[in-house]
Amino acid sequence: MATTAFSLAGKKALITGGASGIGATTAGILRDLGAAVALTDVNTEGLAAQSEALGGCLTFECDVSDEAQAEAIVAAAADALGGLDIAVNSAGVVDEVKYALEREMEPWQRIMDVNLKGTFQMCRAAARIMVPQGQGAIVNIASVNGPGGWPRRTAYGPSKAAIVALTKELACEWGPRGVRVNAVGPGYVATPMIAGLIEDGKIDTERLNNRTPLGRLATPEEIGQSIAFLASDWASYITGETLFVDGGWMAYGGAGDVKTF
Ligand SMILES: NC(=O)c1ccc[n+]([C@@H]2O[C@H](COP(=O)([O-])OP(=O)(O)OC[C@H]3O[C@@H](n4cnc5c(N)ncnc54)[C@H](O)[C@@H]3O)[C@@H](O)[C@H]2O)c1
Repeated sequence: MATTAFSLAGKKALITGGASGIGATTAGILRDLGAAVALTDVNTEGLAAQSEALGGCLTFECDVSDEAQAEAIVAAAADALGGLDIAVNSAGVVDEVKYALEREMEPWQRIMDVNLKGTFQMCRAAARIMVPQGQGAIVNIASVNGPGGWPRRTAYGPSKAAIVALTKELACEWGPRGVRVNAVGPGYVATPMIAGLIEDGKIDTERLNNRTPLGRLATPEEIGQSIAFLASDWASYITGETLFVDGGWMAYGGAGDVKTF
């Protein structure tokens, strides 16, 4: 039993949403821990920038909501990496933040297609490699906005709640074949996704900080570290879990701000 901090030396990892935010930061962490990483995203400029920031790595343009692309890119990445041990599904889009009665179905469906269908398709494509080899670790990204109810999040919230369920179901299906499937459920994280919502006045950072026991947003590094742990052999008996990395958001059940009771 290892007693030193875990290593990902020799592991081959594919990260969706690797051009930005949590995915990009996680790629750096996995690489620092010894893994060979490949990044996918729809944002090719971001992919090039992240590859450069990492000193060069494999990148693949891929829209995770497109079944053919998901299948082809996972196979191509595994080929180029020389295998696939870790898949991190960080590609995602935010909600329109609109009341249910004002919503149109096309944008609603698009959020579900990227966040839920995309995650499922990438899990399934990764498992086509991991199940036959008898090992692998998949980490999905859920959110506190899934198990928790939020007004004006009626696409994003259900997509993330479904990722919690999907993670359990796949863990049960593939556990007997040596493949672990877990998720991280972040609270609010300081990434470009959230910066956009703050800019648009759809998020009030001070109110979020006051509602969070740890009193601040997460850094992408704090999410990436949890992803790295779940992907590592130190989490070898953990599967089907969603680890909420939320500064205590889900734990808090009081009325009003944490600071004012
Ligand atoms: N930032 C937060 O507060 C927060 C909180 C909870 C969960 N999350 C989740 O974490 C994940 C990463 O979010 P982030 O904050 O790093 O956002 P981000 O916008 O910085 O990164 C998301 C990446 O996904 C890519 N992407 C979008 N649609 C895609 C598609 N169809 N195919 C492939 N790539 C696509 C984007 O181009 C972008 O590079 C998302 O699933 C998000 O829902 C974020």
